[in-house]
Amino acid sequence: MKEFEKLEFESERLILKRVHHTLHGEELNPVILDTIDTLEPWLYWAKRGITVEETSLYLRRVSEKPEDYGFRLYLKSQTDCHNNNTVDHPLIGICGIIKQQDGYELSYWLHKGYTGKGYISEAVKFIMDFAVDTLKVKRFTIITQVFNKPSVKLAKKLGFESTGFEFWDVSSRWPQFADEIQVAVFLKEFT
Ligand SMILES: CC(C)(COP(=O)(O)OP(=O)(O)OC[C@H]1O[C@@H](n2cnc3c(N)ncnc32)[C@H](O)[C@@H]1OP(=O)(O)O)[C@@H](O)C(=O)NCCC(=O)NCCS
Repeated sequence: MKEFEKLEFESERLILKRVHHTLHGEELNPVILDTIDTLEPWLYWAKRGITVEETSLYLRRVSEKPEDYGFRLYLKSQTDCHNNNTVDHPLIGICGIIKQQDGYELSYWLHKGYTGKGYISEAVKFIMDFAVDTLKVKRFTIITQVFNKPSVKLAKKLGFESTGFEFWDVSSRWPQFADEIQVAVFLKEFT
């Protein structure tokens, strides 16, 4: 089996470090707990009181297969603009690509103190460039709840085309959601 390969990149304002479910649950858990109110409505794994073990379980989604590339996002700037503490390169979220049968699905979230600054757009663009250039990926999808305005806006801004809507019956698996959620599927292909 292929070993976990550590990867670290820098984009304009971010440091991207590859995430692994066996290594980084403890580091990410407090960041998730601190922004749980903004994640809970949209992400099935994000629930109040999420533990380190549950965080590691979620991280499996973006790191279980060697072909998955999830990244921890850190600010290059040293000031934590959320609460004006001086923190060395604060950890602000996760962005990654998950291998699917016919391409990769994007996955992302940010701590609420860092949204509205273009950080996820920057991370998604960087990771897609890496995937196209290095992994020769030609097809990306974004699946998001239709009422998740920032996520839908991001998909459109990055040039993804809507391919339609789906209704998912999720209540038995994800009890925090209503019986059905409506998701939009966005696609971007490279030739
Ligand atoms: C979805 C989510 C990651 C989007 O974050 P975001 O910060 O809004 O996304 P972007 O990085 O694209 O930033 C866009 C905003 O930054 C602003 N911005 C500021 N400086 C910028 C810069 N240098 N470059 C680009 N945009 C910039 C843009 O104007 C835009 O603001 P607007 O929406 O008010 O017009 C965030 O809302 C989130 O974490 N939500 C909860 C988790 C979630 O829903 N995940 C997705 C599940 S499918």
